[in-house]
Amino acid sequence: MLDNDYKIPSHVAIILDGNGRWATKRGLKRSMGHKEGFETLKNISNYIFSKGVKILSVFAFSTENFKRDKEEVDYLMNLFIKNFKKLINKKNDAKIVFSGRRDNLSKEILDAIEETEEKTKNNKSHIFNICFNYGGRADIIDATKKIVDDCQKGKLDINNLTEDVYTQYLYNGIPDIDLLIRTSGEVRISNFMLYQAAYAEMYFPSTLFPDFSNDDFDLALDVYNKRNRRFGGINYEKKNN
Ligand code: IPE
Ligand code: IPE
Ligand code: MG
Repeated sequence: MLDNDYKIPSHVAIILDGNGRWATKRGLKRSMGHKEGFETLKNISNYIFSKGVKILSVFAFSTENFKRDKEEVDYLMNLFIKNFKKLINKKNDAKIVFSGRRDNLSKEILDAIEETEEKTKNNKSHIFNICFNYGGRADIIDATKKIVDDCQKGKLDINNLTEDVYTQYLYNGIPDIDLLIRTSGEVRISNFMLYQAAYAEMYFPSTLFPDFSNDDFDLALDVYNKRNRRFGGINYEKKNN
């Protein structure tokens, strides 16, 4: 499907799921799935930006993922410490930001996060939003606390609190999602970007994340283009984005 009406979603979000199953299926340790998943993330993010997507959000580690065995959590943290920098890519001009709570994280991971943000802060073409130690409810609660604080300080009049203003108080002020993809066949959002997903088109391919290819993303775009986004209205014409 390639015509002038072909719509590229402005904000794509991906719940990167299925790393563990990818490894277990091959008789490998779950950590090998995370390693392979990170390689996939490096490749697919460049491809997605090259298609013209402005914002890419990915769910890399949830607040609830701390419930996993220490060995798996430690492996993941080390993987991120060593590899966040590899997501910096001069060609795509993406500003990398991290959304999530910063408490509960080691100094090494905080340093890796801050270094990556600092190195890309002047990039303008795209935003690469990495949700890390992230929970959608925590995002809403933390925004609400900042709003109450600003009201008490007289910086915000509560009567001026609109949905758009609320968005600006969420982590990094990331706006609504147009296309939300969750790999691995699970059909739930597991506390991901609850506020921003209000009118997202959702797509749940069965592909395990390490196997998610450029062709799989093209297929997701084709599915998105067949959807009719009405936002509660009665416009039956195909009109995305
Ligand atoms: C997603 O893969 C990556 C993280 C949660 C960090 P999983 O580790 O959840 O993989 P499955 O769902 O067990 O296969
Ligand atoms: C959601 O996946 C979190 C990330 C992808 C980082 P999970 O694998 O943790 O979610 P559940 O437990 O299947 O809902
Ligand atoms: Mg999972």
